[in-house]
Amino acid sequence: MEEALYSELGFFNTDNVRSSEKGDFLTSPEVSKYFGVVIRSWIDSKNFHENIVEFGSGTGSLIEQIGLKNITAVELSSTARKVIHNKGILSVKSYEDLNILSADLVYGNEILDNIPCSIGVYRENDWYEKVVDISKDDFSYAYQPIRDEQLNWINLNKIEPNKIYEVELQTNIDNLIANLVSRFQPKSFLFFDYGYEQKNRKKRKYKSLLRTYKKHHLSVDPIDDPGNVDITYDINFSAVKENLKALGYNVSLKQQREFLLENGFNDIYDDLKNQYTSLEGIERLKINSELNGLKAILDSNGLGGFYCLVAEKI
Ligand SMILES: C[S@@+](CC[C@H](N)C(=O)[O-])C[C@H]1O[C@@H](n2cnc3c(N)ncnc32)[C@H](O)[C@@H]1O
Repeated sequence: MEEALYSELGFFNTDNVRSSEKGDFLTSPEVSKYFGVVIRSWIDSKNFHENIVEFGSGTGSLIEQIGLKNITAVELSSTARKVIHNKGILSVKSYEDLNILSADLVYGNEILDNIPCSIGVYRENDWYEKVVDISKDDFSYAYQPIRDEQLNWINLNKIEPNKIYEVELQTNIDNLIANLVSRFQPKSFLFFDYGYEQKNRKKRKYKSLLRTYKKHHLSVDPIDDPGNVDITYDINFSAVKENLKALGYNVSLKQQREFLLENGFNDIYDDLKNQYTSLEGIERLKINSELNGLKAILDSNGLGGFYCLVAEKI
């Protein structure tokens, strides 16, 4: 996954930023410019002034919408960093390049699902990892005894052995967050992403939650077209929550929809609705399209149904 997404030939190293209209998927800030405006209301209510860091910024549109000068983008893709730079936003490739000692807030939209996971499978009364055999001309899957860190993750998160589901092992997410905590002691984390809670895993009918996207559509098996498809998975938010709790944070999980409604969504919507009624012609059409964007980020069957994780240092 790491290689297929971020290497020289990786999916995120291309001419167009992938998370854009011309790219392969649309995210909340690309669908509505008000997504960041609502996040800004939340930031203001928390009085966060010092060193705010956005992870996985894509085109940088969310930072523009939030409209604060002190946000730095951490973005792995050089294509995306160029676009961000041209918008006059400070960006670095890795959190290790950040020139700060502490942070008020670390946040990100649809970043956790792009952090490479590994795959655990339970068979013949033991846990294994599903790996990619690279020794032949074509890629194929193979099984290896599970590594200690991955097995610990399974045990820590009390994932029961079962022969039906593959398990996306989020050790890289845990390690990234732990590193950020030890380096910058952020007062708060805020993440939006698609995912589920552990107790509801069985309700998901898919054997694997890993999948690929290309040009706004579900695509092939990850090993069939590596480098040309996005590889992503549903985030086990219970695991992210437990990890942050162990690091000394109070964590709440809610739907994106709930977060938006709690932080001023209706005021923006009502204001636009009033403008819509008073305008005519093209101007009215423009407001209508903004209203549609707002509805899309609130829709609980779509982007509004994403998880929102808020963690605050105790
Ligand atoms: C799905 S896109 C989301 C972009 C943007 N946040 C949005 O909502 O439109 C994920 C982005 O995260 C970046 N990324 C993935 N892993 C990263 C990492 N470890 N550090 C920084 N950026 C990363 C990818 O290059 C990609 O641009």
